[in-house]
Amino acid sequence: MPGKGSILGDYYYREAKKQGYRSRSALKLLEICQKFRIIKRGDIVLDLGAAPGGWLQVSCRLVGEEGLVIGVDISEIEPLPCKNIVLLRGDARSPELHESIMKTSGGMVDVITSDMAPKFTGIHDVDHGRQILLAGIALELADKLLRPGGKVVIKVLMGSDFDVFRREVKSRFSDVRIFKPSASRDSSSEVYLICRGFIGGSQQLLRSPEERSDDLARG
Ligand SMILES: C[S@@+](CC[C@H](N)C(=O)[O-])C[C@H]1O[C@@H](n2cnc3c(N)ncnc32)[C@H](O)[C@@H]1O
Repeated sequence: MPGKGSILGDYYYREAKKQGYRSRSALKLLEICQKFRIIKRGDIVLDLGAAPGGWLQVSCRLVGEEGLVIGVDISEIEPLPCKNIVLLRGDARSPELHESIMKTSGGMVDVITSDMAPKFTGIHDVDHGRQILLAGIALELADKLLRPGGKVVIKVLMGSDFDVFRREVKSRFSDVRIFKPSASRDSSSEVYLICRGFIGGSQQLLRSPEERSDDLARG
């Protein structure tokens, strides 16, 4: 297999196209889901930074007809032929968008995936800082919307603020792993935080201990 950084020999790009996915990123989520069982049938999934839609295609298949996938992006996403996908266009930082997500999801989601990425400058510290800010939005939305026991997948770039961010994440989940999918380029410092067993968030305070242990048991 050719090197992952080689454009001519971009095996993962060709493979994604061959399988009908809109992005090579789709193969990253597929690998994450196969390894960590993130998305189940019937789940409500919030996908942040969803354009052009590769992760939406993967999630839509995994949740099945009983589930729902809400795709959010600042850029337009061409609609997909899948009834259980709702597309919301806007900046994930905007409170109005958070309101729309709440209304669409009915107030709670099972999984949040964030593949959001800033426009890269090529200056690592700047790109890393911006990526951490986007990752922070995913965490903020988890605090607002994720059900207890829920799961989150967040893209980050390794760098000086990584450890502080990971500590923030660890305080909210019972299990946090760092994972670099095979389809992620060797030359990129991107990794994904795989977070399971949500224990943080304000909605915890509204639930009885029995409800919380039921939710955690559902995993
Ligand atoms: C790497 S792409 C996502 C690819 C996608 N997961 C797929 O499989 O097709 C990153 C996306 O993050 C989006 N993005 C960046 N900042 C954003 C923000 N503040 N709010 C919403 N989307 C954002 C970009 O517009 C871009 O489409």
